[in-house]
Amino acid sequence: MTHETPDISGIGELSKPTTRFSFEEFSRQPEYRQVNRELVVRLAGYLPKNVFTHVDVATGTGLVPELIIEQAAQNGYERGAIIGVDPNRVSLQVARRIVPPPNISLEFIEGYGQDLARLTAGRISNGGADSVSIHDAIHEIPGEENKRGILTSMAGILKPGGVLSYNSAFTAKGMGESAMKWGKWKLEAMRKLGGRRDKLVEAIRIYTPGEYREMIEDTGLKVIHEDLRTVALSKDAIRAISRYPAFIEGVFADMVGQSDVSIEDKSKALIEAFDNLNLNSLERNWHEVIAQKVK
Ligand SMILES: C[S@@+](CC[C@H](N)C(=O)[O-])C[C@H]1O[C@@H](n2cnc3c(N)ncnc32)[C@H](O)[C@@H]1O
Repeated sequence: MTHETPDISGIGELSKPTTRFSFEEFSRQPEYRQVNRELVVRLAGYLPKNVFTHVDVATGTGLVPELIIEQAAQNGYERGAIIGVDPNRVSLQVARRIVPPPNISLEFIEGYGQDLARLTAGRISNGGADSVSIHDAIHEIPGEENKRGILTSMAGILKPGGVLSYNSAFTAKGMGESAMKWGKWKLEAMRKLGGRRDKLVEAIRIYTPGEYREMIEDTGLKVIHEDLRTVALSKDAIRAISRYPAFIEGVFADMVGQSDVSIEDKSKALIEAFDNLNLNSLERNWHEVIAQKVK
């Protein structure tokens, strides 16, 4: 049976390309763009107006670079350089379709967030980057050591006074008051596939917002903004996230016999199960932080 398994290991072989199943469609959803836009607006307020350098880690199809370009235009920034880093070659092909204005250089590099010093060497000035970002990705990096490795690498390329933005909808507060509805959806999808939960499978560790904040602070950065924002995900957004391999695999990770079910069938079960619940939207909480390198 064909089974497309995404490589989200964060170490080892570079990510396998995703085809029909990718994050691209979800990253186009207005509510997803808006929660990221609002964080970028806040981040952009710290950028120097004459010339700035920004590095976006886990850039995917380039949403954050797009939003930075939008803000630079709105704020009238003179010049800028944006670098996006991600191991997923196919996402980067999509990202490379973004056409920046003449005053902004935009480059996408295939690689891991743990390697920023090497990947950006010679690309940013000795003083370091003005800002770095990691949006909706840290929860996908397996293991605390890798998560910390990426954050340390990000803090390492920042110049004194530079800022980092992070957000995640996959913290212990992600489902919030809608936890029952998310649980019902998952169980209904499993039921459709004739599967049941394997209680012996160790659940993927979900970190609390406080733990992510602490990991950021442990790199030596000072948190200057933190929030938990509730976003209503429309039916379209739910359908789109049901076509993202890392999400699909996460939902079914503890289903008995899940490795024998194709990603197509899992995705279809998620979409049909949501339709069965007769919901128009589902709420999700985004935890976000902006932190600054002390001068
Ligand atoms: C959910 S997507 C988010 C993409 C983008 N930030 C956005 O918001 O549209 C998560 C991304 O993390 C990337 N990723 C996984 N492991 C990584 C690593 N070790 N370093 C950098 N990126 C990684 C994946 O390839 C994927 O593109």
